[in-house]
Amino acid sequence: MKILFFSAKPYDREFFENCNLDYSHELEFWETHLGPHIVDAIKPNTDAVCVFVNDKLNAAVIETLANKGVRVIALRCAGFNNVDLEAAKKFGIRVCRVPAYSPQAVAEHAVAMLLTLNRKTHKAYNRVREQNFSLNGLMGFNLFGKTVGVIGTGKIGAAFCKIMLGFGCTIVAFDPFENDTLKSIGVNFMPFHEVIKHADIVSIHCPLTAENHHLINTNSLSAMKKGVTLINTSRGGLVNTQDIIVALKNGQVAALGIDVYEQEEKLFFKDLSGSIMGDDDIQLLISFPNVLVTGHQAFFTKEALTEIAEKTLENVSLLLKNESIDDVSRILV
Ligand code: NAI
Repeated sequence: MKILFFSAKPYDREFFENCNLDYSHELEFWETHLGPHIVDAIKPNTDAVCVFVNDKLNAAVIETLANKGVRVIALRCAGFNNVDLEAAKKFGIRVCRVPAYSPQAVAEHAVAMLLTLNRKTHKAYNRVREQNFSLNGLMGFNLFGKTVGVIGTGKIGAAFCKIMLGFGCTIVAFDPFENDTLKSIGVNFMPFHEVIKHADIVSIHCPLTAENHHLINTNSLSAMKKGVTLINTSRGGLVNTQDIIVALKNGQVAALGIDVYEQEEKLFFKDLSGSIMGDDDIQLLISFPNVLVTGHQAFFTKEALTEIAEKTLENVSLLLKNESIDDVSRILV
């Protein structure tokens, strides 16, 4: 069976080719993202396409895929806000994903961002290299005893809660589905507005949906404690970029860590070091001393890439043979 990969990087090739030794599919890797600009170039012998977070599969793209005989869209990620599932249903294409691949990878990156922003290790690293051992401007705060607000307590949010409990933090959380196991270890569930009102640190771990687009906006930001630290490793569209810039400028938000960004598809996963960046907002955010931006790397561990490759190839193989997948959360259509 032929699987065509989009947005493929050298590490995708390495992990998928290694895992494919068990399957012997024909794998082809294209660097470009999937979207209307390229869909016509797909050859008719392609059985499945494998896509990532910034590939854009709208109804027109999906219709063309169906006309070319593509039978499976395999997301090698958890989030699926970039795929028109209704269109896939309409055109008879199966869609699968990897709902969980080392949730600890993302949770640990969120913690890394929080610790970096708080203890300013990124600044200390540069200072010391210039033999500047001054501590001025490097002061942080103890995480012990602070209240951490967690939005979304699924697999990643739960892993994050457990780490932060280990730091001696109080955890307040919002999720439409409260998790009894987390409650039993001391996580306090409350409505969204109560969580953001009480938290010194807010970390977002829910999926982006039509309902929660720009969940973090002027209203919710002004309901937070002044000087809050905000971490978003989930999806860029959950945070209104213009509103967060204002909140950073007026000190409502003391520090911001983002691994995801609203307009990231034009930037992330690319080396733009030789170009003039057209996105003024990200330039501004990067220039702020209390903002840490990483380019959607929270998932990026050996363990996660191994799991992504294994589950994706298993999903595709089973769906192409019209066989069922035990874990229904891996099938979207
Ligand atoms: P999950 O499906 O296990 O958990 C998501 C949780 O969010 C569920 O418990 C759900 O009830 C809850 N939820 C849904 N809408 C909500 C809302 N409006 N407010 C609060 N909670 C809400 O998903 P998982 O694996 O924990 O992933 C969470 C998100 O993390 C993904 O949707 C994806 O956007 C992001 N992600 C980011 C990665 C990165 O590298 N930066 C890698 C993997 C996932």
